[in-house]
Amino acid sequence: MKDIKKIVLEKINEAKSLLQLQEIRIEYLSKKGLVNDLMKKISKLDKSEIKSYGQEINNLKQFINEKIKSKQDEIKNKELDLQLEKEKIDIHLDKDVLSNANKHILNKVIEDVEDFFLFKGYEIAEGPELETDLYNFEMMNLSKGHPAREMQDSFYVDAENLLRTHTSPVQAREMIKKKSKKLAIICPGKVYRRDNDDPTHSHQFMQIEGLVVDENINFANLKSTLIELINHIFGKERNVRMRPSYFPFTEPSVEVDVSLIKENGDENYIEVLGAGMVHPRVLDMAGYNPDKFSGFAFGIGVERIAILKYKIDDIRNFYINDLRFLNQFKGDN
Ligand code: DAH
Repeated sequence: MKDIKKIVLEKINEAKSLLQLQEIRIEYLSKKGLVNDLMKKISKLDKSEIKSYGQEINNLKQFINEKIKSKQDEIKNKELDLQLEKEKIDIHLDKDVLSNANKHILNKVIEDVEDFFLFKGYEIAEGPELETDLYNFEMMNLSKGHPAREMQDSFYVDAENLLRTHTSPVQAREMIKKKSKKLAIICPGKVYRRDNDDPTHSHQFMQIEGLVVDENINFANLKSTLIELINHIFGKERNVRMRPSYFPFTEPSVEVDVSLIKENGDENYIEVLGAGMVHPRVLDMAGYNPDKFSGFAFGIGVERIAILKYKIDDIRNFYINDLRFLNQFKGDN
């Protein structure tokens, strides 16, 4: 019996496929197999030997069964590993692609502004790019037929829906969400106007809206926030200028310019944002009692900041994905 065990074990160990294992099983364990043949000899044995012989045969049967089973598992696992290896998908990006990747310069400007305001405890809000006339205009104190609507030529989808012309509607959306609680938010995003594209105009551009509403907000709060912001973005050496202006959703309103020293030494001012104290009617429409609450708001032109900071001469460069342009800002902040 020991010899038989040794021989079967060798055969099993050498088997390379489930089919070969099946053949071994037939050779030893089937009706016409070796174990059965051995079993038949039992009738010729002496009574005293029958029991131990029977046990040995059973033991051999069990032994072969176990060895075949464990070899079977081994082969199945190997096949599975092989299959997995074959079907493996490499999800890693080519390292050359990664080393060329670079954040877009406009996103860097946005992240820089976000960092500044997050540190001050502002929240970042979002609003839809396809906006309703109600939020884009009416809730911003631009009722139907208001002449100032013409400052923002729009892409209407139908009479009540348009691509938002500014990020200001997010002011109303956030105030309604906050239900008369104080708030401080910024909202970066794309906006759209019906403009012919040229070096200084684009039908799509980016803004960052800001809104702070609380019980005692005054113009000095607005001014100090904006000056700090501009110092953060450009460093302290730039001059800042505030000009009185008009926006229907703020009163008083200002436009803020930042100085640019030209190559011939002349100082030029470029407008980077509009701002003001939130109009009482805007507060009221969004559910804030204007006798109790006051607020300031601003809208930053992201492209204008980038143009000034990085001395870019054509706004269209931001959108055409020319690597010669984009790679200039690799690793830059
Ligand atoms: N929404 C204005 C625009 O697109 C920019 C703006 C001006 C936003 C003054 C404001 C603000 O929040 O207070 O021209």
